[in-house]
Parts: sequence; structure tokens; C-alpha cells
Amino acid sequence: MRFHEWIGDSWAVLFSHPKDFTPVCTTELGAVAKLKSEFDKRGVKVIGLSVDPVTDHKKWASDIEETQGAKLNFPLIGDADRKVSSLYDMIHPKANDTLTVRSVFVIGPDKKIKLTITYPASTGRNFDEILRVIDSLQLTAKHSVATPVNWHRGEDVIIVPSLSDEDAKKKFPGGWKTVKPYLRVVKQPGQ
Ligand code: BEZ
Repeated sequence: MRFHEWIGDSWAVLFSHPKDFTPVCTTELGAVAKLKSEFDKRGVKVIGLSVDPVTDHKKWASDIEETQGAKLNFPLIGDADRKVSSLYDMIHPKANDTLTVRSVFVIGPDKKIKLTITYPASTGRNFDEILRVIDSLQLTAKHSVATPVNWHRGEDVIIVPSLSDEDAKKKFPGGWKTVKPYLRVVKQPGQ
């Protein structure tokens, strides 16, 4: 697989797991498989990584299906030589010098990294939060808006400070609420 070719014009999420056949990772992979349609809806490809060979991933996949009720429906990189995880700094030597921590990268269609989050190995991630950030990033890319604290899809958003009132009038002909000159609140576009 050539990563950038595989991403194409999509967005992508690359996330690492400490190890195959571990309990928290098993729950995470099942959860991501169940959320696949949500990622698809947003034009996002997901790919996992674990420092084990693909032969192990294949055996583990049947455990994931059995215990989580979801079949793996996205690729999982076999990084037994830790080449990818070392290049992407997914191994934190002070935690464990062979296993990865739980890294997440959200990558845009321009192949630039838009977000990184690192969780400890013992904490399962909140993939609803990853989807929430993707919603925010895609709104910013399309509509020049930012999202306030604890925002969720459908709620009001903020016009980015770099957009002048003059340009904002063209983008938001329905108007907005000026709370402060730097805090301009508008209905979420594109609903
Ligand atoms: C787990 O996936 O369950 C796990 C992996 C490494 C450390 C702790 C938990």
C-alpha cells in the first residue's frame, strides 16, 4: 500500500494499537468497525496499526468479531519491524520501548496532518470525539468557520477571525450574531 495513493482525495485516520490480542485494543477495533459508515459518510478512510505481523492480525480478527460483534472492515498495518511506528513517533520509550502508545492522526486530502492525539496504552479512545473533530475540521475547510467549546454537529459555529465582516457578508448572507467583534456566531452552514 502506498499511503498517499490510498488516501486519494479522502480524509484519513491513522491510529496505532499497542499489541494484538490485548483487551482494550480489541474493544477499540470493534468500535471503529461499527462506526465505519460514519467515517464513510464524511469521506474518511480509517487504518489501524499494530506492531505484530498480518498473520496475527488475521487470527485476532476472528476474536474481534466474536467478542465485539463487528467484523474488521478497514486495513490494519502489520508493523512487526516497527518501521512505521518509529517514523511516526508512536513508540514512547518512557512508556514501553517496543509497543506503541495509542496515537491518532487525522490527515486531510492535502496529506497534511490536521490533528494528533496520544493516549496512554491503558486508556481506550473515544472515537465519537474523533468524528466530532473531523466534523469541525471539514466545516473549517469548506465554510471558514471554527467550532466552540464542546460543540456538536448541528450547533452554532463561529466565523473564523481571519474572515473580514465584508467577506463574511458574502459567505453568510443570512447574517450572524456579533457577541464581540472577534466573536461572531452563525448557524452551522451546510445543514
Ligand atoms: C490493552 O489493549 O488492553 C492494553 C495494552 C497495553 C497496555 C494496557 C492495556
